[in-house]
Amino acid sequence: MTVAEPGNTHEPVMVTEVTEYLAGRDTVVDMTLGAGGHAAALLEAGVGHLIGVDRDPSALAMAGERLAAHGDRFRPVRARFSEVDEEVVGGPVDGVLFDLGVSSMQLDRADRGFGYRTDGPLDMRMAGASDDEPSAADLVNGLPESDLADLIFEFGEEHRSRRIARAIVRNRPITTTDRLARVVAGALGRRPGGPHPARRTFQALRIAVNREIEELSASLPQAVGLLAPGGRVVVIAYHSLEDRVVKYAFRDDERVAVLTKKPRRPSEDEVAGNPRSRSALLRAAERVEVAA
Ligand SMILES: C[S@@+](CC[C@H](N)C(=O)[O-])C[C@H]1O[C@@H](n2cnc3c(N)ncnc32)[C@H](O)[C@@H]1O
Repeated sequence: MTVAEPGNTHEPVMVTEVTEYLAGRDTVVDMTLGAGGHAAALLEAGVGHLIGVDRDPSALAMAGERLAAHGDRFRPVRARFSEVDEEVVGGPVDGVLFDLGVSSMQLDRADRGFGYRTDGPLDMRMAGASDDEPSAADLVNGLPESDLADLIFEFGEEHRSRRIARAIVRNRPITTTDRLARVVAGALGRRPGGPHPARRTFQALRIAVNREIEELSASLPQAVGLLAPGGRVVVIAYHSLEDRVVKYAFRDDERVAVLTKKPRRPSEDEVAGNPRSRSALLRAAERVEVAA
């Protein structure tokens, strides 16, 4: 794999902590395979079999190449993680990992349409442009102004969502990431040295396009259902909306004991070396009940 090319790398986050919870287990499902960084670390840490799930075919291709040396200890599965059931994984498993959101490869490749710093088609579908689901451009150009404002408020936690939605509607059609970033920046103004004003709007659209909150809410109880007694589920979230879903899913599920009272955070060293780890929030839980 040509990992050194820009847009072709993803530094896995909190690998030490993930390995601490899952090392040495027989079968682990990585629900967010990406570039296979966590998967490689787990296989190297003595996990016997790793099933790697991703909805993005390019991630599966890249991870498949990286993990080929592990032979049949690694099995790739193209699916949304909400579709993964016992039939897909072939029986109870000893660990499940979710490393949520998008990978650096997805973010950095302009043609995937995730980035406000690059110019590309306004797409944002993790499964790629061939997916039948609506793209970010479909939402931006098709939703009524009030729905757009609600979406940006809810999924972007953006308080100036009404102003942004008004500017978007005035400038439609918007078909590229750069144009959307400029329209949002024009509506909000730019603070020198501050985060990009379109950051939250882009996050909101990405979450909506990929139905990320629905996927996670549906999948967490299913993942617990896949675990053998003593099996562990580990989730790394990257914003408070996601983390709240994980916190309550674990708290309200009688089949698990929560192993992390508060979410664990990456070390200062890790954040210094990998700025994308900055917002990571890791929670883990262990299946306590004997499987029915
Ligand atoms: C942050 S990256 C994972 C990176 C990976 N842990 C590594 O070390 O390379 C998240 C990955 O999960 C995938 N993904 C996100 N939501 C998904 C879902 N609902 N179903 C399947 N894959 C999903 C994305 O396509 C992306 O490749």
